[in-house]
Amino acid sequence: MKTLMVYFSWSNNTLKIVEETNKYFHYDVVRIERKIPYSKDYNTCAYVEAKDEWEKRLYPEIKQINLDYSLYNRILLFFPIWWYTFPMPVGTFIKNLKNYDGEVYVFANSYTNDPKYMENVMKDLKLIDNTIDYKKGVFNQNVEKHIKFIKEMSL
Ligand SMILES: Cc1cc2nc3c(=O)[nH]c(=O)nc-3n(C[C@H](O)[C@H](O)[C@H](O)COP(=O)(O)O)c2cc1C
Repeated sequence: MKTLMVYFSWSNNTLKIVEETNKYFHYDVVRIERKIPYSKDYNTCAYVEAKDEWEKRLYPEIKQINLDYSLYNRILLFFPIWWYTFPMPVGTFIKNLKNYDGEVYVFANSYTNDPKYMENVMKDLKLIDNTIDYKKGVFNQNVEKHIKFIKEMSL
């Protein structure tokens, strides 16, 4: 079973979860990055750029990831909740996955611990590509819980 970790992070909370979790697993890791980076200013990023993309369902270009996804049986996808669902660059990543026949496990974190977010994420991912086998990972948990979950799903 070959596993790839993919993440998007703006203020690096998700990056820390990925790095700490992966100290245990040592999987290959790639970062999703918007081709034109978001503003470093929170208000501009959140209330102008990200809000506009979300409201208009715009999938921004992301930096090219030179990987053959078919070499991996599963992808662990990590991101923060933005506007009640995934950040739109994550949507671009999913669009680019095309014909991926492994599993995609979803791990999200957010400021508010609202379980509805994960429901939104699962629903919105299917709207982009419903041929992909999405699975719920963990939502708003610490690193230990991530490690435990990934260990158990690998059994
Ligand atoms: C553009 C933007 C939108 C956000 N929207 C939400 C939201 O709808 N609900 C929430 O609880 N937190 C929201 N947050 C907070 C992030 O989900 C939270 O701070 C997360 O841990 C950030 O992860 P990161 O450091 O990897 O970017 C938002 C943050 C940003 C920047």
